[in-house]
Amino acid sequence: MAKVSPVAHDLVIVANRLPVDRVTLPSGRKVWRRSPGGLVTAIEPVMRTHGGGVWIGWPGGTGQKLRPFEDEGLSLVPMSMTQDEIEGHYEGFSNATLWPLYHDVVAKPEFHREWWDEYVQVNRRFAEKAAQLAAKKGTVWVHDYQLQLVPQMLRDLRPDLRIGFYLHIPFPPAELFQQLPWRRQILEGLLGADLVGFQLPEAAANFVRLVRQRVGHKTHRDLIYLPDGRTVRAAAFPISIDSAGFEELASSPDVVDRAKALREALGNPRRIFLGIDRLDYTKGIYARLRAFSELIRDGHFDVEDAVFVQVAVPSREQVEHYRILRDDIERLVGRINGDLGRIGRPAISYLHTSYPREEMAALYRAADIMVVTPYRDGMNLVAKEYVACRVEEDGALVLSEFAGAAEELKQAWLVNPYDINGMKAALLEAYQAEPRELARRMRAMRKTISQHDVKAWAASFMTELEDVSHHTKHLRPA
Ligand code: F6P
Repeated sequence: MAKVSPVAHDLVIVANRLPVDRVTLPSGRKVWRRSPGGLVTAIEPVMRTHGGGVWIGWPGGTGQKLRPFEDEGLSLVPMSMTQDEIEGHYEGFSNATLWPLYHDVVAKPEFHREWWDEYVQVNRRFAEKAAQLAAKKGTVWVHDYQLQLVPQMLRDLRPDLRIGFYLHIPFPPAELFQQLPWRRQILEGLLGADLVGFQLPEAAANFVRLVRQRVGHKTHRDLIYLPDGRTVRAAAFPISIDSAGFEELASSPDVVDRAKALREALGNPRRIFLGIDRLDYTKGIYARLRAFSELIRDGHFDVEDAVFVQVAVPSREQVEHYRILRDDIERLVGRINGDLGRIGRPAISYLHTSYPREEMAALYRAADIMVVTPYRDGMNLVAKEYVACRVEEDGALVLSEFAGAAEELKQAWLVNPYDINGMKAALLEAYQAEPRELARRMRAMRKTISQHDVKAWAASFMTELEDVSHHTKHLRPA
């Protein structure tokens, strides 16, 4: 068994990233900045409710001598990565192999043996650190596709622990997963957990089926029976947001004023369309901007009537697909504005940046139509944040059928992002919708979001984890 540190923690969160990144400003000064993406948004409130927990993760960059530290009340343990590990584990295996493979092969996944070796190495280091920090019989919650080998590595080191794993992104159907040369190792890695959580029931079913076919374990519904007597459960826990927190923020006078100022800055058009995404090829940004521009070109409305604000949050800029995507999108925005815009009235207001929560809330409040059109997305928390911020029960959500959020937000205008004409029709309907229709839909979606917030998500995962691991308690060392 691994040595337990004198300061042992009852809850250890293990994620590829810390909730903050170490960034170097142009002046050379180093500062901590909040990491992008849904994972941080979801886990931070969970940590805060478990006062004594610790979070293990990578702070970005190649810094080596990193010490544990506190940030806004969270205990953080930074893990270093070498340049080779960043290229092999993070940019390579995680984001150029697994990411496209798990997102329906929207881009072609690359399979390289050297990347796999770095992935294994980084997973092992994270598992060893968790083994060191967790209290006896403590709980370790491992997150996402970058760390799928950690559960089994950790179980080998610390069989006394209760281990949960949650996948924030989709889990692909067997036909796609089977392409992976290391498919069996990944499945066995995940089976080290007592509970493996997914966004949607189909993902959990895909996993159980693959375990039966590829590893040969017995399964019954959502349970997997291991030869050593352990039982692993695979189930869906659709993730959510801090809805009350967003609602409060959106109601604050500063955010209300800022939303007004944003509308004015945009020339007070009749309708503001909004997209906020990490600049990722799974998000369907290109297709949605084309659909919007064609509505102007076809004469359904004019640049005086409507503007599309697209916030593209910089992401994974060293990965080739992402660099190409940025060029493609920026060329498209330039062409649309060049063809359709007028002085002081671009058709698309494009921003390549990330914003703090306050500015996001103001944008959500300012926008009449939120457009979320991924080709595949585990959940998509932006859609839920928009709904939470619409405290006046107005505004329209145009949402891809292929985002996990579509399972819950059924009153959105649901679209197939591959169907440009279908998207145009939905955008136009949302543009023309009567206030009563908007209120009917928004009220229903707000009810859903307020009943299933991130606290409820974490609580249900934790309760289930206790339950499952309780069944196999007799197998744990005393
Ligand atoms: O939610 C999916 C996710 O990939 C997280 O695991 C990740 O932290 C986030 O998006 C942002 O991506 P990255 O860490 O690659 O910047």
